Amino acid sequence: MAEQVAGLLGDERDEVANAGNFSAFVLEALPDVNWAGFYRLASDGGLLLGAFAGSPACTRLPAGEGVCGHAVTLRKSVIVEDVEQFPGHIVCDTASRSELAVPVWAGEGLYGVFDVDSPRRDRFSEADRAGVERLLDAFTQHTDLRVNASLAK
Ligand code: SME
Repeated sequence: MAEQVAGLLGDERDEVANAGNFSAFVLEALPDVNWAGFYRLASDGGLLLGAFAGSPACTRLPAGEGVCGHAVTLRKSVIVEDVEQFPGHIVCDTASRSELAVPVWAGEGLYGVFDVDSPRRDRFSEADRAGVERLLDAFTQHTDLRVNASLAK
């Protein structure tokens, strides 16, 4: 699948075009996924919605909050088996039952997170986490990401 991502993005390096196509690819390629997309580090330390595929979503997530904010704080991928059991989960799509949030790096700098939601509880395994991390490696290698330098370390 990482090769498919490389093929999909081709020679294009534009952030918005590639992030949009990457999100749409993940939504179609992974079974039982209802939302896939990027949240970027914002200048207030929170997260700001980027390109995504799925239903309209919350535009801004406060710093450190929700599954995505938790992944930023930890600088590590977070799997939530049941969003109803995760304190502070931010509901954007009421259909979502489980979630995977993966930090996205542009070299040394943190760009934001890639968030994947499923309508099924316990959808995401460690293998899914590793797989999505690999797909994001292919994405970041093929894309010029604008990192919010003041916050990215
Ligand atoms: N549920 C996320 C917010 C983003 S949406 O799922 C698209 C969270 O708790 O961070």
